[in-house]
Order: sequence, then structure tokens, then C-alpha cells
Amino acid sequence: MSDIKAPGDIDRLTQAVLDQVQGDSARVNELLSALITHLHAFVREARPTPQEWRYGLDFLARAGAFCTPERHEFILLSDLVGLSALVDALNNAGPDAMTPTTVEGPFHNPAPPRELGAIIATGSEWERGGWTVLHGRVLDTHGAPVPGARIDVWQSDDRGFYDVQDDAQDTGNLRGLFTADADGAYWVRTVRPSSYPVPVDGAGGELLRAMNRHPMRPAHIHTQVLAPGYRPLTTHLFVAGDQYLDSDAAWGVRDGLVLEFTRNSEAADIERFDVPGPFFDVCFDFVLVAED
Ligand SMILES: [Fe+2]
Repeated sequence: MSDIKAPGDIDRLTQAVLDQVQGDSARVNELLSALITHLHAFVREARPTPQEWRYGLDFLARAGAFCTPERHEFILLSDLVGLSALVDALNNAGPDAMTPTTVEGPFHNPAPPRELGAIIATGSEWERGGWTVLHGRVLDTHGAPVPGARIDVWQSDDRGFYDVQDDAQDTGNLRGLFTADADGAYWVRTVRPSSYPVPVDGAGGELLRAMNRHPMRPAHIHTQVLAPGYRPLTTHLFVAGDQYLDSDAAWGVRDGLVLEFTRNSEAADIERFDVPGPFFDVCFDFVLVAED
């Protein structure tokens, strides 16, 4: 039989649980205590019935059942309710000159190292068009180049699919790990990404349907830039004009990350970038912040 019989006992329940949080790590204790405090506050406020509470627990179990080495349903859930964006924003504040960071998303996998300028779209995307050249430099906040910075690029194809979602794509398609040259310069040949729906066949889809919310993400290229002595930079480059920029399902859009994919028909540029014809020209400098 429960010891909790009277309202006064219930009032003491939260503190009684918190008193039992006595692990060896002060930080773990802090995190667990805050979590328990806020979860108890949620129950006191929303007063879920036992059936509703069980539904919530079963929902988490369903989310777990959808996870595979290639698919992390809890990252998706975190993205969809803005928690990934909040964690990112609170941990990656920096000077105005810094490239804004945003969520990593659930599709980051190890990328094959590639030479500067390599074509990362190795499948039939090429025949469907949308040639794109992404180029620029990696700089510090004073405008000095960061030679040798590692630039990890991953994106969906022109129909909105990542390699891990699409049996028609080879593993590593539309992914590449590049190394900036002595001037911090980089360039990548790819295809213009497309807006796409996040997976809706799992718990994430169940959540979106409960909110009557669309699953679309505006078209983007993911990047992660790493260099010794600098804070890691994980971000997206969004395609200006996309209809979902104001309603990103993952809350990832930031000022300064929406780029014009400018149509370039200059013969000299077509020759310089070794593309077969007019292409989308995207110039972007990544600005890293030195570690303290
Ligand atoms: Fe994405």
C-alpha cells in the first residue's frame, strides 16, 4: 500500500523524490532534479488520467521501437518540439560575426573524404538537373582564413531524400568531407536540395498529426565545420524563396543562413567550376569562433 494517502502527502511527494537524488555527479544530480521537478509540475498542471499517462509512456516506447542505427526517432521528436533548437541556441551563442549555428538533424552520418570541388551527387540527380556550386572560405571572426578546416557536407537530393532513406542512392551519396586550402577556401559541386517531409511513419508523424502540423522542412544543405582551436560549427544553408522557411518542422531557420541560389550562366564561371552548363551559384563564408 502506498504511503501517499492524504493531500499533504502528495504535496510532499516531489520533494521526497528529489531528496533521493544523491548520485556521485553534481551535474547529473542537477539535471535529474530539474527534470523531476518539471515533470512533476507538468502532471500537477495537466492532470493526465492514468489512461493518458499510459498512452504517453506507450508513445515513448513506440518511438524507441522505430530507432535503428540510421534513424533516431528521439532526435526527430526533439527537433519537432523545438528542443533541439533551444539546446543549440543556448550552447552556441557567440559574436555577431559568427556564422549562426542550427540543429544537426537526424541524418548526419560519416562522410567520405573528397577532394576540393568533388561532385558529391554521384547518382541520377545529375540527369535531373539543378547543378549547384557551393563555394567560399572558412574565416575567423577577424576575417583571417582558417587553412585546413574540415567541412562536412550532407544533404538530400533534388527530390528530398537522404541516402539512408532511399535504396536507389549509394551510401555516401550527397555527402562529402572536404579540407579547406591554404586560403581557407573550399568548393563543392552538388545539386540543389529540395524541401522534404520529415519521416511521418513513426512517433514523429504521430506527434505532428496530433498537432495538425505539416512535416515539411525548407530546402537546405547541412554543414559541420571543424578546425583545431575553434568551436565546432554545425549549421544549415537554406535556399531562399522556399515556401517552408517560415514554418520549418524542425525550427532550424536562422537569419544569415538563407542564401540565394543564383542562376549563373557566365561561360567563364561554367568553365572555372567545370560544370556542363548554367548552374546555381552559392557563395558562403563560414566564420568560426576561436575557443577560449
Ligand atoms: Fe536535412
